[in-house]
This record gives sequence, structure tokens and C-alpha cells, in this order.
Amino acid sequence: MKSVVIEQPCELVVAERPLPQPAAGEVRVKVAYASICGSDVHIWHGHNPFAKYPRVIGHEFFGVIDAVGDGVDPARLGDRVAVDPVVSCGSCYPCSVGRPNVCTTLQVIGVHRDGGFSEFALAPAKNAFSLPDSIPDRLASLVEPFTIAANITAFLKPQPDDVALIYGAGPMGLTAIQVLKGVYKVKKVMVVDRLPERLALAEQSGADQLFDNSEIPLAAQLEGVQPTLIIDAACHPTILAEAAALASPAARIGLLGFSGEPCSITQQSLTSKELSLFTSRLNSNRFPQVIEWMEKGLIQPEKLVTHYFPLQEIERAMTLFEKDPRTCCKVILQMG
Ligand code: NAI
Ligand code: MN
Ligand code: ZN
Repeated sequence: MKSVVIEQPCELVVAERPLPQPAAGEVRVKVAYASICGSDVHIWHGHNPFAKYPRVIGHEFFGVIDAVGDGVDPARLGDRVAVDPVVSCGSCYPCSVGRPNVCTTLQVIGVHRDGGFSEFALAPAKNAFSLPDSIPDRLASLVEPFTIAANITAFLKPQPDDVALIYGAGPMGLTAIQVLKGVYKVKKVMVVDRLPERLALAEQSGADQLFDNSEIPLAAQLEGVQPTLIIDAACHPTILAEAAALASPAARIGLLGFSGEPCSITQQSLTSKELSLFTSRLNSNRFPQVIEWMEKGLIQPEKLVTHYFPLQEIERAMTLFEKDPRTCCKVILQMG
């Protein structure tokens, strides 16, 4: 089979590899589509602290089950599945409280073990979620990015009368906008980005008000409006302090970033308004919820997609994705 392998940092190859055999409890997926995420680029460049090399990357993928290991119901052969990349132990403290995404021995498919930028990939059978026919193959790899928005909004508990502010209109910001509007029916969703092309995508995904902070700071444009719910999907370390300053008293702030840089913020700026801070990593069992949202048409994954590429053109696809955020949002690889 052909697989995209990062042999070591900065060395990407499309390699011929032996067809893997599913172990007990696993399925093998014949991958049809897989989408590129910023973290794939980070592993390529050696900027992901969790990645071990060589590694087949890709954690957002869809395909058909073509082999099952011992103990897996053979009736699953032929199932169309989206794969949850979160592999957890099921028994540690975070697993026991329903937070497998921060399992003490967390393994992420495509990061800690081989992933979906490959003609075939292995996954635990319970991570392979069968899809209804109403979700087309070419969009099915986008279940995973929407689970990020599902996870953070589960903490933030959006309400229709929230005044929401989202930093960043990349894939993560756009999924958050769609979930706030389509699922939670939040009346006002404001979005700030520095790129007009990204703001145009935010509008298409349902944002009510757009702000470009490339020249004028956001605070000077908000005219005193105080957001009650803020999601940082831009993830620059300076954003938290700005968000706390702009937030309404009693607001909730959700953070998605993984920056290792310190950010400077006072206790007073949080406590005086009794702000709630939530962080969210990957997803905790949110695949069924997102599949239902897609099936009901509450979210529109097609609005994120700008490009499709064949697997062989992976390097061109990843380079475009990385270098050209003005023309690129979600880039999807087609395997066969
Ligand atoms: P992206 O880079 O495509 O989007 C970020 C957007 O924010 C861009 O459009 C950029 O122009 C904008 N931006 C950057 N700085 C800004 C600022 N100061 N003010 C306003 N806009 C600003 O990235 P993507 O894929 O949307 O991911 C966003 C972040 O989410 C990344 O930092 C990534 O590491 C993180 N992430 C976190 C996950 C989690 O589970 N916690 C999962 C996936 C991504
Ligand atoms: Mn991703
Ligand atoms: Zn665990």
C-alpha cells in the first residue's frame, strides 16, 4: 500500500508499505478521503512534541472497513466509517470521568501511531463510527474537526442570547461558528481575523458580524459590546488577556491553543468579572453527536473545503495548505 510517511522531521515521502493486519479488537479501513490539519504540517516540520518517527500522518479520515481482527463482528466488513483518532485506556482517572481525550496514556492515531494518509489504516473497532448514507464520502473526513467544536462548546454551554466572539476564521473557527449558529442557535456570533478571505468564509459559515484586526485593534471596533462567550481559535498567546479585557462579567472563555509561550494575565482581570476559563483538547466521544448534526443538516462541512488532491500530490497539498491561508481552508486528499 502507499502511505505518506514522515521519515524524520522535514522528510516527507510517499512510501510503499506492507498491508497491515488488524490485531484483536481492531479494524482495517480502506481509506477513501483524509483531510489535512495544521498538526500534520507540524509533524512534518518536527514541531509536534508527541510525534515519533517514522510516522504515517493523518488523523482526519474516512473509508470502508475491509478486514477485522479477532473479536470484531464480521458484520462490520463493508461499513463506511469515520475514525475517532483518540485511543485511550478506559481505566485511568480521566477515562473514568468520561475524558478519554486526556487519558494518561493517550495515543492519537496519526501522531502517536500510524494514521490515515495511507491507502489502508488500522484503528480500534470502537473508534470506527459507521456513517449514514446522507453523509457523502467526500465530506466524511470532516467529522473529526467538527468534534473539536463539539467538545469545547460542551464546556461553554452556548445559549441563544449569548453574544459570542470567535478569534480566528481558520478551520477551527469556522467549525465553532457553524456549531454556535446551527446547533445552539446563538443569535449573535462575531468573528475576528486578520485576513479578509478568511472573514469571507466566516460569513459563509453564518457569522453575523466580522472584524478585521490587521490594522485596528478589536477593542476599538467593538463599540463597547461585551461578548458573553469567547472562543480562541486563533491561539496566539496574547489573545487570552485581550479576551478577558473585552469579555462581559460572567462570560465564559474557551481556549484551544497549544503554544508553549507564556501569556501574561492578571488574576484581577479574570476574578473581578468572575470569568470562567475552559480548555479543550481533541474530543471526548463526540463522533456520534457530530454525525447526527451532519445528518440533520445543522452543520455544513462543505463550506470549509477549498481543495481536493490525489494522495500522490501530498507535498503540493501540504505546502499550499501551509503557505496560502488566503486561498486555502480545508484541503482533502483522495486516495484511490
Ligand atoms: P489556522 O491557522 O488555519 O487559523 C487560524 C486563524 O486565526 C487564521 O485565519 C489567522 O489569520 C487567524 N489569526 C491569527 N492570529 C490572530 C489574531 N491575533 N487575531 C485574529 N485572528 C488571528 O488554524 P486552525 O486549523 O483553524 O487551528 C487554529 C488553532 O487551533 C491552532 O493553533 C491549532 O493548534 C488549534 N487546534 C486545537 C485543537 C484542540 O483540540 N485544542 C485541535 C485543532 C487545532
Ligand atoms: Mn485535526
Ligand atoms: Zn485512560
